[in-house]
Amino acid sequence: MPALANNELRIVGFLCNWCSYGGADTAGVARASQPTDLRIIRVPCSGRVDPLFVLKALLNGADGVLVSGCHPRDCHYGTGNFYARRRLEVLKRFLPILGIDPARFSYTWVSASEGQRWQKVVSRFTEEIHALGPAPRFEAVEPLAKACSWTQESKGPVSVISPELLEQLKKAIADKLPELDCVLGWQEGRDLLHSVPLFIRSEDDLTKLRCDATCHNNLVRYLPDLKGQKVGIIVRSCEARSVVQLLQEGLISREELVVFALPCQGLLDLPRLEEALGRYQRLEDLTLTETTLRLRVDGQERVFQTADFRQSRCEQCPGELPAIADQSFGDFSGQTASQTLPPELAFLDSLNLQERMGFWRACMERCILCHACRNSCPMCVCRDQCIAESREPHWQSAEASVKEKFFFQIIHALHLAGRCTGCGECQANCPVGLPIFALRAHLNRIVSELFDGYQAGCDPKAVPPLLTYSQEEAHIHERSWE
Ligand code: FES
Repeated sequence: MPALANNELRIVGFLCNWCSYGGADTAGVARASQPTDLRIIRVPCSGRVDPLFVLKALLNGADGVLVSGCHPRDCHYGTGNFYARRRLEVLKRFLPILGIDPARFSYTWVSASEGQRWQKVVSRFTEEIHALGPAPRFEAVEPLAKACSWTQESKGPVSVISPELLEQLKKAIADKLPELDCVLGWQEGRDLLHSVPLFIRSEDDLTKLRCDATCHNNLVRYLPDLKGQKVGIIVRSCEARSVVQLLQEGLISREELVVFALPCQGLLDLPRLEEALGRYQRLEDLTLTETTLRLRVDGQERVFQTADFRQSRCEQCPGELPAIADQSFGDFSGQTASQTLPPELAFLDSLNLQERMGFWRACMERCILCHACRNSCPMCVCRDQCIAESREPHWQSAEASVKEKFFFQIIHALHLAGRCTGCGECQANCPVGLPIFALRAHLNRIVSELFDGYQAGCDPKAVPPLLTYSQEEAHIHERSWE
């Protein structure tokens, strides 16, 4: 019996084969009346349900999605539903930032003998989805017209390494170089304002080394590719967190790594600076102090206060001595990390669900699917096996529609849940300046709320929360269907 006669909605149910599917069967055998809106997909275990299944269904026309598995401790495979519980709770809290009503997704546990409970669960959920009505289609929502701008409130200085400190660092690298295959650092890029990675293989290469506030590339991105080689790397606080995270996941080996740690007070936000600078032909000179950036551009002198162009994510960084430093240089007395949210996330928080979906709809019209966000991310380690390009299974079509682009951003964000170290490279490298860091920052906030303040990349011995489970979860409360 449909919850509302002649007015069925599309509800997708992912049911574990061993319990909930049996529970639905028991309800059927007992001839318990049930809504007919639910389309059941049988899965071997709730642990098999990737949160992307749910999001793909919701983006492709489902009005609601229900996941049901065996009760905790009853999983046929022992622990599948413990892992599922963490993932699905993170997903439920992630939906609002996308503009999707979290009430359109629910997860629960029903055993094979609980026909009555199944009837109650499916009837309640269907009624709730009917109360919400058909889900808005992402491709049909109105792009958010109101100005998507936020004020970047940076206050602190930016990083400048003194010539003496740079010499000390070069000397330490030169001493270690005979034992290493290469050392990762930075060098001048297309002009004095832009830096690119430097692979130091000889002492001659050291003359090109620079380490100032213009060097924003997260060098850790190259480490998994160099596995098997003995590599040195220069890290600041944010890169150090990425190293720790890769070590935790066993993607790099500590024995093959020599870490040179530098203090950092903050980096320059180059896209914003470029916007202020306007188009130029030649950058003839650059002088950087902690508070002032002086440039000579096309024969004219331009002066900027660095506080106005400091990356907003540097506000949240404590700048302390990395836990994995082999050699450190300079003063790591650190700075006070601000508790404020990244401005993109604070802006999204101020919107309602409909506006948020309109915001992402407007953003996705600008996305060119260049994958620069993924390619620059130190935590995106699948490389050629990325599911965004996989044809088997075929997760994403080659169609460049707003929906497909949004799904790509969701894939990237969800694969970083509990792993993103907040380096902001995804957003810094986006050629059209999409505020995609907000998705990662929101996931980091969820993970911190659910798992006792966990922050990725801080403790080399910690296990990332979505790679483990707990039989009793302090902050995840099962929903009562009674
Ligand atoms: Fe049912 Fe794992 S077998 S949840």
